Amino acid sequence: MILDIVILAAGQGTRMRSALPKVLHPVAGKPMLGHAIDCARALSPRRIHVVIGHGAEQVRAHLEAPDLHWVMQEQQLGTGHAVAQALPGAEGADQILVLYGDVPLLRETTLKRLSEQAGAEALGLLTVEMQDPTGYGRIVRDAAGRVLAIVEQKDASPAQLAIREGNTGIMALPGRHAARWLNSLSNANAQGEYYLTDVVAKAVEEELNLVVAQPEDELEVMGANNRQQLSILERAWQQREALRLMTAGVTLADPARLDVRGEVEVGRDIFIDVNVILAGRVQLADGVTIEANCVIRDASIGAGAHIKAFSHIEGAEVATGCDVGPYARLRPGTRLQDGAKIGNFVETKKADIGPGAKVNHLSYIGDAQVGAQANVGAGTITCNYDGVNKSVTHIGENAFIGSNTALVAPVRVGAGASTGAGTIVTQDVPDGALAVGRARQRNIEGWKRPVKRSS
Ligand code: UD1
Ligand code: CA
Repeated sequence: MILDIVILAAGQGTRMRSALPKVLHPVAGKPMLGHAIDCARALSPRRIHVVIGHGAEQVRAHLEAPDLHWVMQEQQLGTGHAVAQALPGAEGADQILVLYGDVPLLRETTLKRLSEQAGAEALGLLTVEMQDPTGYGRIVRDAAGRVLAIVEQKDASPAQLAIREGNTGIMALPGRHAARWLNSLSNANAQGEYYLTDVVAKAVEEELNLVVAQPEDELEVMGANNRQQLSILERAWQQREALRLMTAGVTLADPARLDVRGEVEVGRDIFIDVNVILAGRVQLADGVTIEANCVIRDASIGAGAHIKAFSHIEGAEVATGCDVGPYARLRPGTRLQDGAKIGNFVETKKADIGPGAKVNHLSYIGDAQVGAQANVGAGTITCNYDGVNKSVTHIGENAFIGSNTALVAPVRVGAGASTGAGTIVTQDVPDGALAVGRARQRNIEGWKRPVKRSS
């Protein structure tokens, strides 16, 4: 079966009160439309058509990808009109699935179920029983329970308004009939729009098979028209993600106080304390502990590693058994090898810290290689930038860098070498040597402290 998917994303979203087009507002760090696109991709369709209008250029620039077919809808004349704009590109499809760009929680399993049940011959509807279906099209059935039509809220009779089964808008159209139906829609209704929903009455008239599928829950098909609804979707997403992590073997101190904004892979027996944000691609191996208030983005954390409170990790690789923080900042290009320790108020960037090496206090280690078991004392700074160029500092294995050492790169401290506290290292230090480079102390006996002048 040749499957094409059409995602509607041309609407303005006035109620967001935003310069950003509605479908670009993020849920879990990703534009709502991005979620819809990913859901579509999961079905491996022949083509994905995205119908854009309001903020079209911005939307396209944000989500451009080689597998997307952008379709311009200049005027928003209704959902039926929107799908019709995609038809030329959908020529030859056996089934056309219609999704909404502002419905980000739809599960791929639900969409697959609808698609498979409908196949190439039937019209498939995704409907949902709702406590309060206000605003939704109602599914009108006959006495035998067969679907007859979808009636929009604004066109519905009082009896129809009492129907609790709502139209989610997500629909599978048989490709053979789609063009004929969509090109014969009328806009003689309360909103003067070409309704996609009117294809239902046409299918009934032509005695075509209709199949109806339901989502697992109502949230799956909920759209966001304003920021309050957006926040509901965000929390629902986070709840789902927390549940997934717990099911996989992660203990969460509070499932409501973890936010995942990306893809997280986890091992078992991980503990995550409150107010942690995991963003981008994050991998947590078995037995990792993450204390409160950490932000971890695009990073992998090795087995048994312990990330202490208030640490910020981005673009870093932390190996087995490392200790990080509290208050550590690992910037992109940081690699901590097995058992390395980064302590409080230490910033690293493009730094390779060897196995068992320690940088425990108040340091900046950038563009550096630190050998195994080296000990970098408090306040050590790699002076890696001369205002134009970045240079590299090498610290050999087992080196001992005294407190408050400034390493003026490019420079190399040999294996087993030491530097005295306060040294400014401007020349390479041979293996095993001690470098001392600081003004000699002199003591002035009987020194009189200054006194305040009386005015
Ligand atoms: C639509 C359905 C309704 C359903 C509801 C679910 C129709 C006629 N009605 O109503 O049965 O219960 O969704 O939310 O289909 N869009 C375009 N171009 C247009 C019009 C809309 O791209 O010309 C997009 C919008 O950006 C939006 C989606 O289609 O993402 C739905 O449009 P909207 O106007 O919100 O439809 P509803 O009136 O809510
Ligand atoms: Ca809507």
